Amino acid sequence: MKALITSGGRGTRLRPLTHTQNKHLIPIANKPILYYAIDYCREAGITEIGIVYNADSDAVPKAIGDGSERGVKITYIPQEAPLGLGHVIKVSQEFIGNDSFVFYLGDNMVVGGLKRFIKAFEKANSNCHLTLAKVKEPQRFGVPEIKGKRITKIEEKPERPKSDFAVSGIYIYDTSIFEAVNNIDFSHRGELEISDAHQYLLDKGYKLTYSEITGWWKDTGKPYDLLEANRLILDNIHADIKGKIDDDSLVTGNVQIEKGSQIINSVIRGPVVIGKNSIIENSYIGPFTSINDNCIIKNSEVEFSLLLKECRVIDVHIRIEHSLLGNDVEIIKSHGKPSTHHFFIGDQSRVELI
Ligand code: DAU
Repeated sequence: MKALITSGGRGTRLRPLTHTQNKHLIPIANKPILYYAIDYCREAGITEIGIVYNADSDAVPKAIGDGSERGVKITYIPQEAPLGLGHVIKVSQEFIGNDSFVFYLGDNMVVGGLKRFIKAFEKANSNCHLTLAKVKEPQRFGVPEIKGKRITKIEEKPERPKSDFAVSGIYIYDTSIFEAVNNIDFSHRGELEISDAHQYLLDKGYKLTYSEITGWWKDTGKPYDLLEANRLILDNIHADIKGKIDDDSLVTGNVQIEKGSQIINSVIRGPVVIGKNSIIENSYIGPFTSINDNCIIKNSEVEFSLLLKECRVIDVHIRIEHSLLGNDVEIIKSHGKPSTHHFFIGDQSRVELI
């Protein structure tokens, strides 16, 4: 079995973070989103992985490399334009050949890995195995109609959803999916829709099965969703301390601290991850917080937040909570006169004050 992972698309939803980086490379719990997909595949015994990327940017191949560091072999497949998930499969036909494969949308994360879905696909001798998750707004997704235990219809982003399930971004196929993507037409939004390919398989009598999943995350359009992904991942980490904690500090719960980081006279209440060479001094770091490499938090309190590389939070006397700081962001106490709030903020950012 092979795997095909997406990393292209337009990536407009997670602005401002995606102004400067591909959304699949944004770190959640200090690990790029795309690494989760790669690691889930490897854990399921799949080492031959194709990654489809936007032909106009080599950001993903450059950042992820040939996969040897993560124990897999990655083949990069360019997509000339974001013409839909059916198109992604179409351009990957040569790479897949006659194998079955996991199709994994690189902006999805699922707790518990892929093995159980692959087993279900094999056991049912299925042509197409989908994973379904109950969601609040099914109209944002591909939605199945289910009668008894069978999917009878699939619609892409329907105005009136036939169930409260979304088809999540983890699919397992045999080669019949190529017949489907080679026979469907472009939709009104100019894409070869994956839901149309699934409907084609249903119409032609292919065997379509599904598993129900929990613990699934996908970017649905709100940047704060990343905090939910962060929570989902941190909920399942183990403690691992490689950095230094001084005697005046208190670290409780599942906390990971990478090499070169120092905790000085501070309280860290897990689950928390702290990257390399960061300094936490006279501060409190609360549950569900990820702090990336080379950050400095001094005389401040941070909880339920995601801080990317090289952030500095210094002498901020109001707790920072439910916040998302991009790379190289500074929040510091203003000294001198006049005593005012002072902002220097890029496009599409948001600040909430009390
Ligand atoms: O995540 C689940 C949903 O994914 C399903 O419920 C929908 O049926 C399916 O169509 C898809 O919907 P989205 O509108 O959320 O797909 P999105 O455009 O966000 O693309 C998903 C991934 O595929 C993301 O990693 C970007 C990448 N992509 C997307 C397109 C359209 C490509 O690499 N190339 C493309 O042409």
